[in-house]
Amino acid sequence: MIVSVFGASGRTGHAFIASANDAGMSLRLHYRAKPSEQVPTSATVVVGSLNDPTAVREVLRGADAVVVLFGPHPDARIPFCATATKHIIAAMHVQSQQRLLVVTGAMTGGMPSNVSLFMRIMRRVVQRSAHEGMVADRTEQERLVRNSTLAGWTLVKPPRLTDEAATDAVEIGPALSVGMRSSISRASLAGALVREIQEPRFAQQAVYVANR
Ligand SMILES: NC(=O)c1ccc[n+]([C@@H]2O[C@H](COP(=O)([O-])OP(=O)(O)OC[C@H]3O[C@@H](n4cnc5c(N)ncnc54)[C@H](OP(=O)(O)O)[C@@H]3O)[C@@H](O)[C@H]2O)c1
Repeated sequence: MIVSVFGASGRTGHAFIASANDAGMSLRLHYRAKPSEQVPTSATVVVGSLNDPTAVREVLRGADAVVVLFGPHPDARIPFCATATKHIIAAMHVQSQQRLLVVTGAMTGGMPSNVSLFMRIMRRVVQRSAHEGMVADRTEQERLVRNSTLAGWTLVKPPRLTDEAATDAVEIGPALSVGMRSSISRASLAGALVREIQEPRFAQQAVYVANR
């Protein structure tokens, strides 16, 4: 199975590469700059801008599934997630690719009743303190994924991410309750993404995911 990864240089990117490589997946990895870290010898590295259609197409070439793991660094001021995701979806359409997993966050977009009151309040705080357009960018990213006509999109919405080791104690689902104490390790999140690629359960759904 060939899997394209955007946001390969991030911490979830690293965890996903390790987990997917262990699962025998062939990886096509996107980086903005030449990676300083070791990547699996079987992986293909594509270096380029997310705004460069040729680079995006090259990352997607032959992929059975596409995973989007990028997100803004703290204090980032320039929104990019929605535009980059739009380019990826457009290129997937051209190449007739359907399976797209996009990681956003439990506090992104609408706040259904499974998201705790604390998280709703936190979201307001974040909205007030974030640089203009940064919160709206993630909401728009989710909207683009939901409104895409891809048959196999899945939004994966973790609460706080940690760098603990992977564990099998992972809960995932559209109505999973998430709150102040919820978190998931990047390694566990990576494992959940790999499982969802291997055995799709949540096509055309947004799912919350957390360690028990
Ligand atoms: N941190 C949390 O507690 C938390 C909670 C819920 C959801 N999330 C979301 O989960 C995902 C993974 O988070 P993480 O903490 O593992 O990520 P991370 O380590 O912060 O990595 C961020 C990734 O996004 C890329 N990126 C940042 N700014 C960019 C830009 N302007 N243009 C293109 N790429 C850019 C980085 O590339 P470079 O290395 O080239 O900069 C890197 O690959 C993100 O979507 C994040 O928002 C995080």
